[in-house]
Amino acid sequence: MATNWTPESWKTHEARHLPSYGDAAKLSEVEVTLAKFPPLVFAGEARDLKKTLGDVAEGRGFLLQGGDCAESFAEFSADNIRDTFRVLLQMAVVLTFASKQPVVKVGRMAGQFAKPRSAPTESAQGMELPSYFGDIINGIEFEPETRRNDPERMVRAYTQSSATLNLLRAFAGGGYANLRQVHQWTLDHIGKSPWGEKFSVLADRISEALDFMAACGIDPETVPQLEGTDFYTSHEALLLPYEQALTRRDSLTGDWYDCSAHMLWIGDRTRFDGSAHVEFLRGVENPIGMKCGPSLEPDALLRLLDTLNPRREAGRMTLISRFGHEKVEEGLPKLVRAVKREGHPVVWSCDPMHGNVIKTESGLKTRPFDRIRAEIEGFFAVHRAEGTHAGGIHLEMTGQDVTECTGGAIAITDEALADRYHTHCDPRLNAAQSIELAFLIADMLNLEATQRHKQAA
Ligand code: PEP
Ligand code: CO
Repeated sequence: MATNWTPESWKTHEARHLPSYGDAAKLSEVEVTLAKFPPLVFAGEARDLKKTLGDVAEGRGFLLQGGDCAESFAEFSADNIRDTFRVLLQMAVVLTFASKQPVVKVGRMAGQFAKPRSAPTESAQGMELPSYFGDIINGIEFEPETRRNDPERMVRAYTQSSATLNLLRAFAGGGYANLRQVHQWTLDHIGKSPWGEKFSVLADRISEALDFMAACGIDPETVPQLEGTDFYTSHEALLLPYEQALTRRDSLTGDWYDCSAHMLWIGDRTRFDGSAHVEFLRGVENPIGMKCGPSLEPDALLRLLDTLNPRREAGRMTLISRFGHEKVEEGLPKLVRAVKREGHPVVWSCDPMHGNVIKTESGLKTRPFDRIRAEIEGFFAVHRAEGTHAGGIHLEMTGQDVTECTGGAIAITDEALADRYHTHCDPRLNAAQSIELAFLIADMLNLEATQRHKQAA
C-alpha cells in the first residue's frame, strides 16, 4: 500500500482545475451522500483489467479506449449508449481480426463528465461568466445561474453513470455482443461509407469462421467468450471530491480502489510535480492512465512513474501520448527511450485528438481526419523504430452521425460542420469515421506484426 497516503491526502497538494464551491455545507452534504452510495465498479474487475493491460504492456494485445469528450445530462439516452458501445465493438472486431491479438475495450463512458478548461471565464453577449467545466460541475448554457458550480450535480452524474454502466453490463454480457450479431450491427451511415462494404466482407468472413468452429463443437454454448465480451469504463479523475467519495477499501485485499470507474486517467494539465491529482491516484490500485503532451520531459515522466508505479507492476500504467501530428515523431522517442531504459512496464497508447484541434473560420473547433490519421501513423512509426509495442488508441468518438471532425471517406467539409455539431466539449469522430480509422489502424498493426515476425525469424 502507498505510504503516507489517505483518500484525502491530495488536499495538502496543489490542485489545479478544481472548481470552488460557494456553499461548503452543501458540498460536504453531497460528499457524505456519495460516500454512502454503492460502488459503481468492483475492485476485482479493476484487477482483471490491470492484468489484461499487463499483457498489452508486454506486447500481447491492443487497448481500444474511446467515447465522448464530455458526457452530458442532455445527451443521456439508451440509444446513445448503445450506438457508442456498438461502434467500439465493431472497431474491436476489425482490430482483432487484423492483428489476431486480443483487443481490450474501455469506454470513456459512465463517468466522463469533468473538463479542465484553458480559461476560467468566458465573455459573450457583454457578460463574463465562468467557463463550462462539464455537467458534473456546472451547465453549458451561457446564463449566470447555470454556470454556477453546483455540488448537487455530482449526485446526478453518479446516477447517470450507474444507469449507463447497468446498460453497458447488459449489452456486454447479455447476448447483444454475441459475435453472431456482427451482420445486424452494420449501421445505415456506415453502409454509405466505402468502409461499410469492407466491414460486411469482414463480417462474412467471421461468420464463416464461426460456422466452421460450430461444426467442430465450439459455439457460444460451450465457449462463453463468443457470447459476450469484457467491457470496462474510464474517465479523467479530475473532480477529486467526487473521486474521493467513491474510493473504497477492498474487503478481500484491504487495498484502496476508486470505484467510480475501472480505469482513471490524469490529464495533461494536472500531471505536474506535486499535483493533487497525482497524489490521489498514487494511492488507489486501479489501472491508471496519464496523458503525455509536448511539455513533458523524460525526467519528469520517470519521476511520475516512480511515484505512481513504484512496484513497477505491468498493467498499472498506460501512457497516452498526445503530441499533435507534427510533433509526435520529434517528441515521443525521447519519452519511449527513457521509459524503456529504466525498465518501467507501460502500455503506450495514442490520443490523436487533443494535439490536433483547429478553429474554422466560423469559429467552430474541429479536428481534420487526416491530422488524426497522421498522428497515429507517426506514433506507430516511432514504436517500430524504437522496437516497442504500439499498444493502444484513445479516441473521442460517438456512435452518432455527427459532423464535428472534418474529412474522412464521406468527407465532412468546414461548411457542413454546423449541421450536426452536438459535442459538449471537443469534436468527436462519428461512427463512419471511427470504423474507417479502425481499418487504417488494423493495417498499421499488421505492419508491426510483420516486423516482429521478421525479427523472430
Ligand atoms: C481529454 O482527454 O478530454 C483531455 C482534456 O485531454 P488532455 O488532458 O490530453 O488535454
Ligand atoms: Co477532449
